[in-house]
Formats: sequence, C-alpha cells, structure tokens
Amino acid sequence: MRTQGILEKYRDLIKLPKHAVPLSLCEGDTPLIPVPALADRLGGGFELYVKYEGLNPSGSFKDRGMVAAVSEAVGAGAKTIICASTGNTAASAAAYAARAGIRAIVLIPGGKVARGKLAGAAMYGAQIIQIDGSFDEALKLVREITDKMPIALVNSLNPYRLEGQKSGAFELCDALGSAPDLVCIPVGNAGNITAYHMGFTQYHELKKTGIPSFIGVQAAGAAPLVLGHVVEHPETVATAIRIGNPARGDQALNVIKETNGKMLSVSDDDILAAQKLLAGQGIWVEPASAAGLAGLIAEVNAGRDVRGKRVVLICTGNGLKDPDIVQLPEPIKVRPDFEEVRKILVA
Ligand code: F0G
Repeated sequence: MRTQGILEKYRDLIKLPKHAVPLSLCEGDTPLIPVPALADRLGGGFELYVKYEGLNPSGSFKDRGMVAAVSEAVGAGAKTIICASTGNTAASAAAYAARAGIRAIVLIPGGKVARGKLAGAAMYGAQIIQIDGSFDEALKLVREITDKMPIALVNSLNPYRLEGQKSGAFELCDALGSAPDLVCIPVGNAGNITAYHMGFTQYHELKKTGIPSFIGVQAAGAAPLVLGHVVEHPETVATAIRIGNPARGDQALNVIKETNGKMLSVSDDDILAAQKLLAGQGIWVEPASAAGLAGLIAEVNAGRDVRGKRVVLICTGNGLKDPDIVQLPEPIKVRPDFEEVRKILVA
C-alpha cells in the first residue's frame, strides 16, 4: 500500500526551499506494466513497458510536479494559486489546493477541454475561467496576472513543478535497476520531457544509472517543435497537447539533441489507433497519452532498430479523463430473460 508521496520518498533528491510545507496525496509510485504483446506487434526482440501515470491521485502525471509547487507556494505564504491548462494541470492544481486549504484558479482555453478534467477541477473546488482563446494565450495571461497580483503560478514554468516531476525518472531507474534505453513521451508545453531528463541526469550522477534517448511526440496539428515555428491555431483530438508555443520548447529540443533522440509528430488517426492498442492490453489512457506509442510505431516503421532495448512509454493521463472520445455502441436492449440473452450470445 502506498502511504507516502514523492516529497517524502525522494526528500533528499527533490530540491525545495526550507519553507516548503509537507504535502501529499500519496502521488507517484505508479505501475510499470510490461506489454510484450505490443512489443511483438512491433517485431519483438525488445522489452516494452507502460509507465501508467494515469493512476496518480488526480488521474494524471501532473500530480508529481504539482505537489512540489503547491508545497513551496503554501510555505511562501500563498493563499491562491493559478495556472493555464488544457485540463490536467487544472485538475491537479485544484486537488492540491484543496488538500492544502488554499484557493485555485484555472484558466482554460475556449472549448476542447476534456470533460473528466473539468469535472475534477470543479469537484476539487477550483474557480474555472474559460478564455476566448488558446492555451498559449491563457498562459500569457497567467504570467501577467502573477506578475501583478499576489497569486502563485503553478504552471511548469514554476521550477518546483520540474523538481517534483523528475521523480518519474527515479522510479523508472529503481524499477528497472538502471535507466531504460528509450523513453517515448508526448510533448505539449514540454515540461514533462524536460523534467524526466533532469531526473535521469541527477540519478546518473549519483548512481551511474545511465541516461536514455528520448522520442518526443507531438500531434501533427500542434507540432511547433517539429515544424520549427509557433502554431497559431493548434488542433488535435489529443486536446491535452493542443499547444502551439511550448513554454519549455527550447529545453525539450536540447534534451532531444543531447540524448540523440528525435522529436516527431503523429496524426490524430495514429494517436487514436495507439489508444486502442493500449486499451487492447487493458490500459485505457487518454488520447495524448497514446502519442508516445504512436511515435514509437512510426519510428520502428521508419527503420529504427529497437532490438535488445528497454523501451518505456510514458502514459500521462487516465482514459477516464476523456470519455467523450469513445464512440459508445448502442447497447443491445433485452428483457431480463435467459432465453433472450442466450439467443444473442450464440448468434
Ligand atoms: N499528456 C497529458 C495527458 C497532458 O495533460 C499533457 C499536458 C502532456 C501530455 C504534455 O506534457 O506539457 O509537460 O509537455 N498538459 C498540460 C495541462 C498542458 O494543462 O494539463 P507537457
């Protein structure tokens, strides 16, 4: 049973100021699930794992960074936190603000925020403000607000978000005995890939665990880091990564360069196909979280040799976050009668 969160578990490795307060929803310590059937589909001969981050308390990887950011903010005296969000950061900020007894305000882009995320933010008690604009515009606004008002910013521009988030890398090294060879990770605002790299680098300095190569994956309609320019009107079914101007884009590109990795984009169809493949293994993730697998498939199809390697897919959010993406079949309706049901079962 998980009885402590990442701040306690990794207290010697996560660098927070002295004023940071204890805070936890027992986040982290998420499963690393082997998916050999998917590896076989890709030619076999390598180890493939899903780091199932959707099993964090608010249903996404954001909880690792958020617990650290809110712990610091509260210790510094903040009574209110704010973030721009495509949904998961909002739910996470709201959860930890509730836990700490402070107020959360979340700015979301117009439309296209998955219902499970908004429901979470509302349930945890955040004030939700929808702007008539994109995530990137919301983030710009949040920067201005936090410059001018006594409100703490908890987007991943906040360095403590990365401090907590890097715990995902520690867990991978602990579980596998050393770093994997390749990490496939969806990229939106680019905080997560930056934090994982920080985590692997720190662990390697301490324990010689190695540093993996990164495949960063964007959606084709929201791929500024692949195209090399800002995307004014990002569009993708993977609404979590519907971002046209990533705050940590340069750092993400550095990670790719330093680790001999690759930043690539995949179509919405490929993302949804990858989501189905994962669900076929019993792992239901939200669309953005399937981008890593879609990217790996694209790379293997393009000739990347992964034989003998250990590959990890970072699956960032739970499928329950975005129920509307699922096309529900019309249920077969019957009277509660054995004969009627039997007829259907043997048809
Ligand atoms: N996957 C999911 C499910 C996400 O919610 C996000 C980002 C990412 C991947 C990309 O991570 O931004 O660190 O590169 N969601 C943010 C949000 C933008 O507001 O919830 P990133």
